[in-house]
Amino acid sequence: MSLLVIGGTGTLGRQVVLQALTKGYQVRCLVRNFRKASFLKEWGAELVYGDLTKPETIPPCLKGITAIIDASTSRANELESLKKVDWEGKLSLIEAAKVANIQRFVFFSAQNVEQFENIPLMKVKNGIEIKLKESSIPYTIFRLSGFYQGLIEQYAIPILENLPIWVTNENRYISYMDTQDIAKFCLRSLQIPQTKNQTFFLSGSKSWVSSEIINLCEQLAGQRAKVQRVPLFILKLVSRFFGFFEWGQNISDRLAFAEILTTENNFSNSTFDLYKIFKIDPSELIQLDDYFLEYFIRLLKRLRDINFEDVQKQKNLVI
Ligand SMILES: NC(=O)c1ccc[n+]([C@@H]2O[C@H](COP(=O)([O-])OP(=O)(O)OC[C@H]3O[C@@H](n4cnc5c(N)ncnc54)[C@H](OP(=O)(O)O)[C@@H]3O)[C@@H](O)[C@H]2O)c1
Repeated sequence: MSLLVIGGTGTLGRQVVLQALTKGYQVRCLVRNFRKASFLKEWGAELVYGDLTKPETIPPCLKGITAIIDASTSRANELESLKKVDWEGKLSLIEAAKVANIQRFVFFSAQNVEQFENIPLMKVKNGIEIKLKESSIPYTIFRLSGFYQGLIEQYAIPILENLPIWVTNENRYISYMDTQDIAKFCLRSLQIPQTKNQTFFLSGSKSWVSSEIINLCEQLAGQRAKVQRVPLFILKLVSRFFGFFEWGQNISDRLAFAEILTTENNFSNSTFDLYKIFKIDPSELIQLDDYFLEYFIRLLKRLRDINFEDVQKQKNLVI
């Protein structure tokens, strides 16, 4: 089976590429910038030039491809690129996939998309889900919650840099996941016929409230966090006037998905079935505390190395 990964340079896409190569798939990556994507080539992937905003570049990338894994997205706070990449670009991709007789199209959506038509990214995600289902291309859709990787910027770095952490007042639980585990589900779906033409709510085995994540980071960093609380109703009010994505990057990163992710849904009820279908034991998944622990250990080692290098440089100057 030969795979075309779109968004291979991204947070999730690179994990998909790495694991697919390890499993022996032939992996081609549609990339906009060969230099930026050179690490994918070093791993063993084939790079082809393509840009979802340039529809004519898509069909040549699909020659000889069996399955598409689309992990691409624009920056959610830029409405124009959202329209060009996540809407028009994906429509062109679906059309090209139909012509190329693609046997599986994996698309990453988000939780509760149909309930948030007022949020541009959610509207286009829902629209693409519908178009894909109507396309007759065999598909698998994963509706995701947040990534562990995003929590570093949201919690760990502000604590380390003594900056405020913005959280909502509501204490709702969110099941974040490591992108390595999402990639595992994604690749497993290609081998399980039951996953054809299905939509899965993919969530981690444990849910977290923001206060628990803050406590964890405080312990690991040995520093207290400065927490700023924003009531969810203020967030909703502001979003109604300005749209989520006009918040400053810092706040929007933290809060843009707060409402979406904290909306009650039944995905946790189906989590058990999901693991069974994919034959993945929840204990195999990376836990958030282990993920943060590894991050802080690596960071502290790096800081020690920098200190050591500085001392050596000073010694050399004295000599
Ligand atoms: N992050 C989350 O918490 C979250 C939550 C729910 C769902 N998701 C979904 O999960 C998927 C992966 O998200 P992510 O956070 O891993 O994304 P990401 O890190 O922002 O990466 C986006 C990727 O899309 C590529 N891309 C952007 N514009 C493109 C274009 N015009 N043509 C071709 N490629 C283009 C980028 O390539 P360049 O390197 O060239 O920029 C990059 O490889 C997305 O569908 C996202 O909506 C994410």
